[in-house]
Amino acid sequence: MGWVYIEDLKNHIGKEVEIRGWIFNKRSSGKIHFLQIRDGTGFVQGIVEFSKVEPEIFERAKRLRLETSVKIFGRVREDERAPTGVEIDVENLEIVQIPIEDYPIGKKEHGVDFLLDHRHLWLRSRRQFHILRVRHEIIKATRDFYDRRNFVLIDTPIFTGSIGESAGNLFEVNYFDYGKAYLAQTGQLYLEAACMAFGKVYNFGPTFRAEKSKTRRHLTEFWMNEAEVAYYDHEDNMKLQEELISHIVRWVLEKASDHLVALGRDLKKLEGIEPPFPRMSYDEAIDHLRKKGFDVKWGDDIGGDEETALSNIFDKPVFICNYPREIKAFYMLPDPERPEVVLCDDLLAPEGYGEIIGASQRIHDYDLLVERIKEKDLPLEAYDWYLDLRKYGSVPHSGFGMGLERVVAWICGLKHIREAIPFPRTIYRLNP
Ligand code: 4AD
Ligand code: MG
Repeated sequence: MGWVYIEDLKNHIGKEVEIRGWIFNKRSSGKIHFLQIRDGTGFVQGIVEFSKVEPEIFERAKRLRLETSVKIFGRVREDERAPTGVEIDVENLEIVQIPIEDYPIGKKEHGVDFLLDHRHLWLRSRRQFHILRVRHEIIKATRDFYDRRNFVLIDTPIFTGSIGESAGNLFEVNYFDYGKAYLAQTGQLYLEAACMAFGKVYNFGPTFRAEKSKTRRHLTEFWMNEAEVAYYDHEDNMKLQEELISHIVRWVLEKASDHLVALGRDLKKLEGIEPPFPRMSYDEAIDHLRKKGFDVKWGDDIGGDEETALSNIFDKPVFICNYPREIKAFYMLPDPERPEVVLCDDLLAPEGYGEIIGASQRIHDYDLLVERIKEKDLPLEAYDWYLDLRKYGSVPHSGFGMGLERVVAWICGLKHIREAIPFPRTIYRLNP
């Protein structure tokens, strides 16, 4: 019998197999070695018994250190007590490489900075294994959601000439004769062009913000999924968001609940995530916060601590709608009945997680958009192509952006966003 991945071992009970992996732990008691083996698809225990193998194999097992790469040959045995339901009775083993130095990550507690400095190795740990597999499923669920609804995937550019969100947190790069280019903060403007061509579109890719804030919610490079639909209004847009989030949660519960359990996540907190989600106006949110003793007034932005307070009210994500136009991006449509607020929503995840989606209906009127670009002191000439969309058959349209790492952090129950991405980028971190 040849090479088998650990995830497939349960289909090979009683058979001889080969596993190619690494030793992530080892315990010995005189006549027996208990090897903890991982191969990237799972974890399994291998037993090397002195009485059952050649003496030199037993000696070889003794030399294994943390993260030694090995090929293990043995028979698969069903074992009710094992987390994977199987164990391996080792018959032979081949060392691929014994680590040149002691593996730096051990069983003792390490500080987060140490672990982040060793992120290239930390990825091998059990907890990271579970988190990044949940991330993988969330990405699959997201794509599946749009594909089922016949949205077209439009990959938006990363080098951009116009400011997508706000001038405050842009990364600039030198771009030949053009001078400055910016790394995309959002692909939204391009999706707006694409939705006029394809009706319903989405993207999924990296975005960049020179965020100076060192919070547990901010990265300088993060992945965003955005959707944009022609002829959708604010209400249609919120329905799409609650369906997307519910689909993702249902998918993860179905396909990855083992990983969530391994992370200690309380599944009950996720089982009730279904449409409709509660809605609260910005006005109500400010009232609520003032009652709770927050020093906020109408017109203020809702910061991290305030978001936490609001997202603790409900068991489900909550839409905070219709913020003052002063504090929101230039492209958001002012409410025709109340032009001091815009038709937008921030979707806050429960359990204090805060904003996971930013959304709005867009301005479709040419003159109004020009006025807003000027109001925000943005360079009109950089938006000529964007304004074109308001010249040729402009229609009401809406869309949103979902921050992948924020969703991963919430669904996995992580304290900090940095574990939600393989190689996090923050103001203080560019390596590894
Ligand atoms: O609310 P934001 O800034 O919205 C936009 O960029 C819109 N153009 C999206 C659209 O309508 N097409 O960002 C969207 C989401 C946030 O809700 C948050 O989840 C995430 O992106 N996000 C961040 N995630 C990690 N680190 C940061 N620095 C983030 N900034 C935003
Ligand atoms: Mg936002």
